[in-house]
Amino acid sequence: MRGKLVIGNWKMNGSLDANRRLLQELLPPLAAVKGVEVAVCPPFPYLAQVCALLEGSSVALGAQNLHSAGQGAFTGEVGAGMLEELGCRYVLVGHSERRSLFGESDETVAEKFEAVLRAGLVPVLCVGETLAQRRDGSAEAVIAGQVRAVLQRVGGAGIAAGVIAYEPVWAIGTGETANPEQAQAVHRHIRALLGEAAATPILYGGSVKPDNAAALFAQPDIDGGLIGGASLEAASFLAICRAAQ
Ligand code: G3P
Repeated sequence: MRGKLVIGNWKMNGSLDANRRLLQELLPPLAAVKGVEVAVCPPFPYLAQVCALLEGSSVALGAQNLHSAGQGAFTGEVGAGMLEELGCRYVLVGHSERRSLFGESDETVAEKFEAVLRAGLVPVLCVGETLAQRRDGSAEAVIAGQVRAVLQRVGGAGIAAGVIAYEPVWAIGTGETANPEQAQAVHRHIRALLGEAAATPILYGGSVKPDNAAALFAQPDIDGGLIGGASLEAASFLAICRAAQ
């Protein structure tokens, strides 16, 4: 049985004060949520603060990105060893905003996935199609390319040490969610691509809210969620975590 995992991706949001208030409100009731692994991914400058705030809770820390080189002359970048040192367990790679706004290719994303593994952390590979790709019928091929680039680089055992998050680009921050059947169909497709790594957890992301989370998480191939906007609001994120129980 694969367990459920819910990760909050704060994106470029937060402040010292807002982070403290969010976690002060979230952590006490979250302690009563059993059988669900929960993580939050704040922006880099807040990792140390959030790591300290999470101490004593079962919530894990994650980062939103990294550079695939461990260290060196890469001004403005952050390496996996630094994230490990700051207490991270998870690192998102290949989020659609990284792919579309910062030009990350499938190959770049595969290198990042491998770098996270090398540091002993858990990479969360984000994949998903645009609206145009869904409409022209190429969604499955696009997702297959995104997954295979990583499989080719790290193999089945490598990908099985990570997590995959299916995030249809047209559902991110739009309020438009893939319905549970649409999401399940893509998750099944991804699982079929994984071969020996078929037990890899596959999360759904894209406008997950308290009122749609339970139906999504009830699908046989959906192992939890990667939550954007709703993870910034304690009551909403808590309700989503409860829906994963
Ligand atoms: O990584 C999470 C994500 O892109 C979904 O964002 O705001 O639609 O939940 P949102």
